[in-house]
Amino acid sequence: MKRRIIKFIKAYFACWLRNTQHSGLRTQHLLLSTCYLALLLAGCAAAPGSGDVANGKRIFNGEVVAQTQRGALPSCKQCHGIAVGASVSRGPNLVDIGKTAGTRVAGMSAEAYLRASIIDPDAYLVRSYQEGIMPKGYREALNDAQVEDLVAYMLTLR
Ligand code: HEC
Repeated sequence: MKRRIIKFIKAYFACWLRNTQHSGLRTQHLLLSTCYLALLLAGCAAAPGSGDVANGKRIFNGEVVAQTQRGALPSCKQCHGIAVGASVSRGPNLVDIGKTAGTRVAGMSAEAYLRASIIDPDAYLVRSYQEGIMPKGYREALNDAQVEDLVAYMLTLR
């Protein structure tokens, strides 16, 4: 298998060298490589926001229960309102968190801030809120994909 790959790479470069003698083909090759690289980069860039918004909403609303070994955690919506003037008061209103998340911590992206807010709630405290109110168990209760789903959902709140 390994030998085959090496053979393929050798053949590829031999072909490339040959093609460089014909500038038309070289341009074509360059274009193709650039497209490939652009696609690859786009794929990587899309990864952080790759969560499933609908599933994130279900977790937020408690339709999917965040379960730890010591029992179920409250749903996000029990503490967080997502409407203007919502009466839920234990946690900050998340009505426009999709807009503000990226401005909370200098140099931190919205996605990274939201992820941290879920798995390590006391890392960055929202002004005028105390630590220890938001449960720390979501790190245990949710898998990585579910955290990404929540992040994707919260990014739509704006
Ligand atoms: C028992 C109440 C409670 C629950 C349940 C809760 N939170 Fe929180 N949350 C808080 C409090 C209080 C804060 C503010 C203090 C802090 O930053 O930790 C907060 C902060 C946040 C922030 C930062 C908000 C901002 O304006 O910067 C986000 C995002 C967040 N929570 C998301 C969630 C998500 C998602 C869930 C469900 C998985 C959840 N919370 C469950 C109480 C709660």
